[in-house]
Parts: sequence; C-alpha cells; structure tokens
Amino acid sequence: MKSTAQYQDAIASFLGIDSSRVFLYWKGRVALYAVLKAMRIGPGDEVILPAFTCVVVPNAILYLGAKPVYVDINPSTLCSHAAQIEAAITPSTKAILIQNMLGLSVEVPAIVAMAKAKQIYTIEDCTHGFGGSHQEVYYGLHSDAAFYSSQWNKPFSTGIGGMLVVNKLDLLPEIELVNAALITPSAKERFLLRILLFAKTYLLKGPTYWHLLKGYRWLSKKGWVVGSSSNQEMVGTDMPPDYFKAMSKVQCQRGRQALQYLKEVMQKRKEHARSVHRWLQQNNKQRVPEEYFEHHAFLKYPLLVHDRKKFLLKAEKHHIPMGDWFVSPLHPVLDSLEPWGLVLEHFPNALNVSSCIVNLPLDLPVARLINFLELYPQEIK
Ligand SMILES: Cc1ncc(COP(=O)(O)O)c(C=O)c1O
Repeated sequence: MKSTAQYQDAIASFLGIDSSRVFLYWKGRVALYAVLKAMRIGPGDEVILPAFTCVVVPNAILYLGAKPVYVDINPSTLCSHAAQIEAAITPSTKAILIQNMLGLSVEVPAIVAMAKAKQIYTIEDCTHGFGGSHQEVYYGLHSDAAFYSSQWNKPFSTGIGGMLVVNKLDLLPEIELVNAALITPSAKERFLLRILLFAKTYLLKGPTYWHLLKGYRWLSKKGWVVGSSSNQEMVGTDMPPDYFKAMSKVQCQRGRQALQYLKEVMQKRKEHARSVHRWLQQNNKQRVPEEYFEHHAFLKYPLLVHDRKKFLLKAEKHHIPMGDWFVSPLHPVLDSLEPWGLVLEHFPNALNVSSCIVNLPLDLPVARLINFLELYPQEIK
C-alpha cells in the first residue's frame, strides 16, 4: 500500500470517517485553496473569516479572485461568534471560515446551521485543533469541509503539511478534478524537509534548540530552507508559481508515526492547561472560559501580557519556547494590510489582542510552566 493511502487511512480512522474523504497537501493553506476552488469560489464572491488569522488564509481566497470579508473576534474566546458572522453576510457570501484558535472553537453548530439555512458553505480552519471536539463531534466534521495543518508547531508535526476532510459528499468529484493539477514537491524540497525533520528529532534538544532555532529562522527568512511561508506570501497577493503542491512521502510517513501518540499528547496538554488555568484563576488573570475545557484541543494556552517583547525575552532566558501567535490580525504582517483589504481600525478586539498575546506551550513539564509564571505574575494581564 502506498504511504499516501496509509496516511489517509490513519487520519480517517482517527476521525472515524471513510478515507475517500481525506486529501493530502504540501501545506494546510493549499488544502484551503483546493476546497475553495472545488466550491467554485471566484471573482465576485465573498468569503467570511476572522480578522485574527494567518495571512496565508486570505491569500488562498484572493488567489481565486474572491474577496475576504473580515469579522472581529470575541477577546475572551479569540474566535468570531455566530451573531458577528451573521451580520457580515451579504448576497455575495459564498463561504464562512470557522477557525479554531489555538485549538478552541466556539458556536460551530450554530454557525453551520445559520449558514446552511442561507445556502452558504462552511469550512472549518482546524489548523490548530486536530483531535479536539465540539459537542462530542471532532473539529472538522461539523461543516461542509475542513482543513488541518501539520506544520512545526501544530497538534502533530510533519515539518510542513496539510490535510482536507470533505463532509459534503457532492464536493468529492470537484476535489478530485481540482487535485489533478497538483504538482509534486521537487527532489530538493523533499531532501531539505527530510534533513529538517531529522534535525528536529535528534538535534533540537536542550540548549542547542535555541541556537539552531535562531539559525533556522535566519535561513528561512533568506528563503534558503523549506520554511513555513515564502516572502512572496507576506508581501502581496499573487499566487506563487509552485504553490499547489501535493504531500510528499516523507510527510506521510512522519504523520502516520505522530498520529499514534496524538491522544496521549493531547491528554497531557489538557492536564497542563488545567494547571495553568488554575494558576491564572488564583492570581486573578484573564483565561479561557471554563465551558470550553472538556473537549478543546489546547494546542497552546493564550496569555495576555503587558509587554510582549519583554515577556518573550524572559521566556527565552528560561528556555520556555513561548509562541507569538498572532502579532497582527493577519499574522505575521504588521501593517500595510491594503493588499488583503483589512482596515486595522475596524477590528478593535483583534487589534488589541494581537498587541499583547503570547502562547504558552503545553508540552513541557507543568512544574516548569508554573514556576515560570510564578516568576512574573505582574507581567500577565
Ligand atoms: C489559523 C491558521 N490557518 C491556516 C494556517 C496555514 O497552515 P499551513 O502553514 O499548514 O499552510 C495557519 C498557519 O499556521 C494558521 O495559523
């Protein structure tokens, strides 16, 4: 059996669905592009999405000539809620993107029901939340389709990687047609990815992690390694020529291995999230609302801090790999968002959160996380 088919089977079996509904891509954004294209979304169409996302998300919409329509987030859940989304619907709305932020989704069934009644497609952006669930249904199975990412910091990693799950079965023939245009990653890309995966597994440990990470970021900026995003994706909305790429064998092999441990890893993250949550509660700090705890994927725990730059430096000093998602409503592009049609002042909650959010990793020993928080309680909002 080919590694692609084995990986499709593994994902399908985890989610409890048929493997004919699972499709694999070089990155998550490519999966989004594929499904939008299969939905025949193009010029004159609008796609609603949160104004707190990664810039590659509106890119996929703009590459097809459609218009991204942004909706502000609720600062306590970091998600856009049903009423906010409904207010943004126009006769041109063709699809709604429902994003689970750091693994948290809210009001998904309500958003899907509202969209269905208006004959609008729904797509879950589950790039942060594979394995989490909402009302006992896995993230990604509520809506017409969903895409996932297995990039470095995601629920499980294949270096880079993306998956699509299709729930509206009449989209399947369209997806097959769209996928006929997929290109194979080059031998150089596959080789570099293999090297990076090797380095991540065997070298990125202890103090060497910090030195190698700096080196990787530098090389990535220069475009000399298989990075998460190219410079072209950060500066404009023209589709890179080699964008629509399939998943490679090395990613499929990695993904299959990582999936075997995912439930265990998720359980650990959830326990750590509870401990962090308790600490925030005891110290009267802002935290994820309790009602989302049972099934949330808890990729990371969001913290709002007074001075992000200072806090990130402190984390680095203590060797805590703190994340900075999202430093802007269209991470990581800080300003000049005109090409993406986003006016910062229209989204005060997203703007405010993106000025002060950091994400605490939940895959470290919990005592280390709490000890670190204990050192700097005054820095956390
Ligand atoms: C919310 C969100 N959506 C989509 C993506 C794109 O995923 P990928 O990097 O696999 O293309 C990201 C990337 O990190 C993301 O954070």
